Amino acid sequence: MVKKVDLKDYGIDMWQKETIASFRRTLLSWYDREKRNLPWRRTKNPYHIWISEIMLQQTQVATVIPYYQHFLECFPTIEKLADAPEEKLLKVWEGLGYYSRVRNMQTAAQQIMTDHQGQFPNTYDEIAALKGIGPYTAGAIASIAFDLPEPAVDGNVMRVMARLFEVDYDIGDPKNRKIFQAIMEELIDPDRPGDFNQALMDLGTDIESAKNPRPDESPIRAFCAAYLHETYDKYPIKEPKKKPRPLQIQAFVLRNQKGEFLLEKNIKGKLLGGFWSFPIMETNFVGKQLDLFESEDTLLETVSQKTVFEQDYKIKPNWTDQNFASVKHTFSHQKWQIELLEGFTGEAELTADKELRWVAKDDFDRYPMASPQKKMIASYLEGMKSHFK
Ligand code: ADE
Repeated sequence: MVKKVDLKDYGIDMWQKETIASFRRTLLSWYDREKRNLPWRRTKNPYHIWISEIMLQQTQVATVIPYYQHFLECFPTIEKLADAPEEKLLKVWEGLGYYSRVRNMQTAAQQIMTDHQGQFPNTYDEIAALKGIGPYTAGAIASIAFDLPEPAVDGNVMRVMARLFEVDYDIGDPKNRKIFQAIMEELIDPDRPGDFNQALMDLGTDIESAKNPRPDESPIRAFCAAYLHETYDKYPIKEPKKKPRPLQIQAFVLRNQKGEFLLEKNIKGKLLGGFWSFPIMETNFVGKQLDLFESEDTLLETVSQKTVFEQDYKIKPNWTDQNFASVKHTFSHQKWQIELLEGFTGEAELTADKELRWVAKDDFDRYPMASPQKKMIASYLEGMKSHFK
């Protein structure tokens, strides 16, 4: 048994029953008036709600809407998702980022096919046992699709709760999640749990947002301790996140006599595994040091990168000195700055050590490509245009 959290231990005074009832009425009548009209709010289909919740985890609503619709067109059933080939799966998620989300979804779809006869499970514990579904997503699906009184505690909900009760615990620290879960278990409306959770999501992304809140407009300001005590600026408590680590990357844009490009499939299990990209490698440390001296010495840096490429890929291209704009891309943990280097080669046998392919530009859309690659293509094409001006 997990020990139940006593909110008093955390300095939180839970409201009386009447206040809780009044809070539910206030929040839900605001939601009935103001709720956003979103495609996944017109269904109770747990499969559809699951897709929306996974997409919404790291991505904004406006971006998610077209992806959600397209995903359902491509994979209308759990079975279709379970059986989808990897390339098709990545293609549909292309540009959304955090690709483990869609890989986990496929594993979960396969679990549903084998363990639940293709029927989405309808209890919290069974939902939470599916791959890629944590307590937030399990709570969201259980409450929205099955009307179970389960909180869906994400960053938005923790922020709103931290302000409501002046919670003096860091919302970014995973061990404090249980405090917010315990508050929500008291507050959630058992008659409309899905709407209750979604009302807090709407409130948390707009009026009670992290960066530009408008506390005077909040429908629940009369309940909000931080608002009433004028401590709103102090809450939620949140330690700043670690900055993403900067990495210098060299990309090699190789073309053969037919004008085709050399693409490489990224290794499975690594960052962007399964996606296709121009060959890339981290610029070595010597290169970075030389960079400090600029002028002629930078030449040495590219020479060494070219040599590494030639040895690694067993191709000796004619390199050009065409300039291309650097490409920047930030992941949650790494910040890439990519320099492009162009080369031409004749008939070249491709090493079997890597998954390599010559691909015509018109065929690029058959290959799943993540955002850094899309940006590299754009920079390359732009550079070519200026060359021929
Ligand atoms: N963010 C996460 N889940 C959501 C939902 N169901 N509606 C709106 N925003 C969300």
